[in-house]
Amino acid sequence: MPTFDVITTPAADQEADLLIVPVYQGPEAGPGVKDVDRALGVSVIDTLRDNRVTGKLNEFFSLPTYGRLHAKTVLVIGLGPKAEVDDDRIRRAAGHLARWASRYGSIVTTLPQAARGGAEDAVHAFVEGLLLGAYRFTRYKSEPDEDGRRLDRVVIAGAPKWDAKALRKTVARATVYAESAMWARDLVNTPAGDATPDYLAREATRMANEVGLEVKIWKKPELEKGGFGGILGVGQGSDNDPRFIELRYAGGPRSEVPIAITGKGITFDSGGLSIKPADQMEWMKSDMGGAAAALAAMRAIAILKPRINVIAAIPSSENLPSGGALRPGDVITHHGGKTSEVLNTDAEGRLVLADALAFLAAQKPQLILDAATLTGACMVALGEDMWGIMGNDRRLIRDVLDAGDQVGEPGWELPLWRQYKRHIESPIADVKNIGQRYGGAIHAALFLAEFVGDTPWAHLDVAGTAFQQKEGDYWGKGATGNPARTFIRFVENRAAKAKPRKKAAAR
Ligand code: BES
Ligand code: MN
Ligand code: ZN
Repeated sequence: MPTFDVITTPAADQEADLLIVPVYQGPEAGPGVKDVDRALGVSVIDTLRDNRVTGKLNEFFSLPTYGRLHAKTVLVIGLGPKAEVDDDRIRRAAGHLARWASRYGSIVTTLPQAARGGAEDAVHAFVEGLLLGAYRFTRYKSEPDEDGRRLDRVVIAGAPKWDAKALRKTVARATVYAESAMWARDLVNTPAGDATPDYLAREATRMANEVGLEVKIWKKPELEKGGFGGILGVGQGSDNDPRFIELRYAGGPRSEVPIAITGKGITFDSGGLSIKPADQMEWMKSDMGGAAAALAAMRAIAILKPRINVIAAIPSSENLPSGGALRPGDVITHHGGKTSEVLNTDAEGRLVLADALAFLAAQKPQLILDAATLTGACMVALGEDMWGIMGNDRRLIRDVLDAGDQVGEPGWELPLWRQYKRHIESPIADVKNIGQRYGGAIHAALFLAEFVGDTPWAHLDVAGTAFQQKEGDYWGKGATGNPARTFIRFVENRAAKAKPRKKAAAR
């Protein structure tokens, strides 16, 4: 992890191995380019033109400085048309830079100055992009594949009017966001042979003790006593027993009703007896992406300490076929007493979440958020860039969508169309666990809705976003950490709204 600093003097005056300045499409000079011109006695823009570099998005060009600048090299990064440069573009550009910058020991950059909008959001996005972009999952590599040096110092050169002291706090806050998302990535990337429900519970406990959260792990006997038929049923085909992870954060007054979060924690989804074809099973270690995001959010919340109460209850089972596995046609009884007919054991996420949602709803929280890699249908509808959101409260949905946009994890609302409840009616139980093929993401959400009562609730279907088979701007192949940062931001936004702070803190 590099150390960060924020300064408000010219970047070109800084001691660093690499100086990074942005240009807009044209090419047109971005912040800091003129200082480089002056120091080198050349025109950077003319040089770019001579080399047919137009400044389009994420285009790189480097110039040696031959001793005329403190930095040995200047790296120019294209940001595309000036009018389009927002925080998220800074985050993504920083993600690309992270890979390049790793061959230098120290960098200084004016990049965050290029975003229109506030300094704070731009600095936050830059730090996230740089840290998340540098993420590697090396746990199973016998030799690190790093090429030489590691980035150990990053200096953000801000505009003269920027408040460096406040922005240093922004850096610290963004670091918590990024580190938490990276922990979620680690959990998701860890193969299911190692990342069992018990492993998830132990990791949650370790985290809780580290950051000071209250934690309670429910094991099989307690789950039986509590009537958690969904969590137990889905897990009954596996030798790795299920767990239920309860976390509590008390940042608000004792009397204040908490926010509740949960996430689908299927450590491996083979489909069970309704077994998946091999090509659809390859990445099913990622089926606890929702749980990982919820855990990561709790970690960040515990560190950032917003003035609000938050509880989390996360179900974790492994969905395997065996002589003891749940059969299609079995009826299970969920926590709270509702029954469901399991016609397809591959629609298991909703079964474990039903228990968790009923458990949380019984505590009468102010709202419930859940994240789940729930349906292929949601991926068909929205692709891999955005999660789908459904729920029973428009304002809540809007606030979650806003939080997602703020952190560069966009979502889109799908309708919780009550008429389709007819598709999940069961002749023998309260509800059945599959609908028809068309509108599968909605049927799944309607199933979940049965268990929240009238608690305001929003469900994020993150099947497309939690894990990606192609690398992106600031993630490699594999876990993305999505939607952990959305949850963190949502909670921070809620806390800020509920109790406007008296002091103008760095937020
Ligand atoms: N975990 C899967 C959904 C999934 C698919 C996540 C692809 C990530 C990538 C889920 O448990 C599942 O199997 N859903 C079924 C539901 C169906 C049986 C009603 C699906 O989407 O096909
Ligand atoms: Mn499944
Ligand atoms: Zn699943």
